[in-house]
Amino acid sequence: MTIEQAKKVLAKADQTHVLRFWDTLNAAERDALLAQINEIDFNEVARMQRMLTDKSTAAAVTPRPAPVTKWTRRKYDEAFAVGEEQLRRGRVAVLLVAGGQGSRLGYDGPKGAYGIGPVSDMPLFYFHARKIVRLIHLYGKPVPFYIMTSDVNDAATRACFEDYDYFGLNPEDVIFFKQGVWPALDAEGRLILEAPGRIFVSPDGHGGTLTALAKNGCLDDMTARGIRSVFYFQVDNPLVDIADPAFIGLHMLQSAELSLKLCLKSSPTEKMGQVTLLDNGRIGMIEYSELTPKQAARFKYGSPAIHVFSLAFLKRMARKDMPLHLAHKKIPCVNDAGRPVTPKEPNGYKFEKFIFDVLPDARKVVCLAFDRDDEFSPVKNATGDDSPATCRMALQAKWRRWLAEAGVTVPESIPVEIDPAIANGADELKQGLIFG
Ligand code: UTP
Repeated sequence: MTIEQAKKVLAKADQTHVLRFWDTLNAAERDALLAQINEIDFNEVARMQRMLTDKSTAAAVTPRPAPVTKWTRRKYDEAFAVGEEQLRRGRVAVLLVAGGQGSRLGYDGPKGAYGIGPVSDMPLFYFHARKIVRLIHLYGKPVPFYIMTSDVNDAATRACFEDYDYFGLNPEDVIFFKQGVWPALDAEGRLILEAPGRIFVSPDGHGGTLTALAKNGCLDDMTARGIRSVFYFQVDNPLVDIADPAFIGLHMLQSAELSLKLCLKSSPTEKMGQVTLLDNGRIGMIEYSELTPKQAARFKYGSPAIHVFSLAFLKRMARKDMPLHLAHKKIPCVNDAGRPVTPKEPNGYKFEKFIFDVLPDARKVVCLAFDRDDEFSPVKNATGDDSPATCRMALQAKWRRWLAEAGVTVPESIPVEIDPAIANGADELKQGLIFG
């Protein structure tokens, strides 16, 4: 983009203030600013501005828990067989969203590089990747692993995989792609400069996954590989049962477009998404912050963001404008002299898209109950609940259960760790399956 083109675009969008320090910028700063302007989708900016001025509130949703499927032995076995067949045919991909900033954990690096192994101190990425190594050995077909990063952590995420030799995966089947960024706006709907030559931008939220998948050619890549189902999960939960065949199988058997695993909440007000039945019979998600404690108590289950998407549904949704969510935040900016200012009060609005906003568009949704002790213990905070300490305890408790079932008792004083490529459960430990 040339400066003349930039001036035209900005004038049309009423954002010419972005160039007010142009004369003071050096050549590199000018190039970077033009590249930023070129990247901004001004149609989306107009949508954000409308949101700032639109005072109408969204129609209230009556909170009603969605029906939840529970396993019976017969249903499980049937679904498991179907899921295994999908894996054997190479129809399953894995999608990890790892573009977040992990600010609550306060770790200097991508959250996935955080050492969580109770014995090995191996990073969260290791626990995810090694589960995929197991699936590939077990079913004999590649399971492509798509990892969404962000501008802030892309290089460090790739470096982590390089450092560990992709944890035993084939690098051709590990596909990194970056999520988009969005500018923030001040109360007048103007872009905010965080430096004289730089517009403030931040990740567009996990709902940005759909656009990013499409923009980076990942949906086409999945199609070319013959993928049907995409297993989606978040980086902070090393207990997740990746591409669990029974879950995939149930999704297929029910011809679902989107399936969700739900677990019992640890308390009525636990901060989890609540899956609700909408008046039109479709399924939606209500954020915990939108419910009164009394309403929240009606929901026994919460969503830890473990999903299966059909590829066809992802493609349909990638073409659709998703709702925007705005948050009033303190945004670093410059004063009229171009000097950096750290605001003490919120001075602008950040916009994000949330992945669960696609739910009401899904023609068929399956909600499956699972046991959280086995599959969910996220690393969110540095200390206290949902911290590395609670997660390591949950990992160890799970492995000890497997070992006990396999006839091995390990004293509590000895820490245990099982390479996820070796076994997923007591039966495999007993059989001594050793891979990769
Ligand atoms: P969280 O909501 O826990 O956010 O993300 P976070 O950024 O990891 O942590 P905090 O809130 O700053 O402490 C849930 C999942 O969604 C991903 C995260 O990487 C995590 O796997 N995510 C979040 C993205 O990929 N992009 C985003 O813009 C936000």
